[in-house]
Amino acid sequence: MGEASEGFRQLRCGFPLPNPPPYRGRGFCFLGSGMTLTDAIARLPKAELHIHIEGSLEPELMFALAKRNNVRLRYPDVEALRAAYAFTNLQDFLDLYYQGMSVLLTEADFYDLAMAYFRKVAGQNVRYVEFFFDPQGHTARGVAFETVINGLTRAQADAAAQFGIQSRMIMCILRHLDEADALRTLDQALPYKDKIAGIGLDSSEVGHPPSKFKRVFRRARDAGFLLVAHAGEEGPPSYVWEAIDVLGVDRVDHGNRSLEDPALVQRLAKDRMALTVCPLSNLRLCGVKRMEEHPLRRMLDAGLFVTLNSDDPAYFGGYMNENFAGVGSALSLSAAELRQIARNGFAASFMPEAEKAKALAAFDRGV
Ligand code: ADE
Ligand code: ZN
Repeated sequence: MGEASEGFRQLRCGFPLPNPPPYRGRGFCFLGSGMTLTDAIARLPKAELHIHIEGSLEPELMFALAKRNNVRLRYPDVEALRAAYAFTNLQDFLDLYYQGMSVLLTEADFYDLAMAYFRKVAGQNVRYVEFFFDPQGHTARGVAFETVINGLTRAQADAAAQFGIQSRMIMCILRHLDEADALRTLDQALPYKDKIAGIGLDSSEVGHPPSKFKRVFRRARDAGFLLVAHAGEEGPPSYVWEAIDVLGVDRVDHGNRSLEDPALVQRLAKDRMALTVCPLSNLRLCGVKRMEEHPLRRMLDAGLFVTLNSDDPAYFGGYMNENFAGVGSALSLSAAELRQIARNGFAASFMPEAEKAKALAAFDRGV
């Protein structure tokens, strides 16, 4: 067993993040190539399709923004906050995630948040990003929708110029809120149609099935947005069926519990429906007890179209490379499998066809 895998075994469901994180190790020789797993992953060009930008808010930046905006946090310092990152389920995490957002007030805050993420992943050879944002988490606190959009779009332009990272944004609907709130939020997005590629569905899953937002998603589709939804993260396979058949999504976020329903697995494979899988998130939120039990191997064996992503990297102990390394070492994925999964990230993206063909050709040339 390699060093990376040893490190990830310490990262367990329900435990606070170790400090420093274990993935800083050198790794081990990968398939006799002379390269460590860590090096092989670092060199892969990557596309991230499932990242909540508010979930990239590192404790250090949270405290800096709290100071800048005179916001009082419930924790005295960064160490105390990190020590609270010991989640036992999705709701445990969401409670802290929404508290963390309270420091985001101005356009500059959203810009700094997104630029910190882009800077970090530029160093991980991430070339393309589709990121989620949760406007209802901000407008409910009195932050204007426009403030959020302006900060994020300015960061997108600067990330393209400074790091060569292309990106698109996906606006998520908070599913614990009601349909009327979702419809109002969709109306707010319409003037920004050129800036927002898609509409998603996130937050507390169980008890809030996709069908609750059938009319919202129909309206979003009619307005020309692409569609995604978190489904099967904690919720049952029926929620994945609803995401596909009732909402008509173009991708499923997570989808882990689909494996409990063979007919659903067949349908996902037949439709080549992309799943945005997030291994460290699943571990930290106790969807799996140990990384060795992660369903990714079974998804691959079933012929599913899987991508790897970080979800909320500041809260779950890793960005793209750490997700690839954590699940790659725990499941002994081959170099070819890791490469195929990285390629899937570009193939499953919402790039227009010509842009996607160019990105895939560049990937295949190894540039
Ligand atoms: N919002 C941020 N992260 C989330 C997750 N993993 N699941 C659902 N909603 C989220
Ligand atoms: Zn998510």
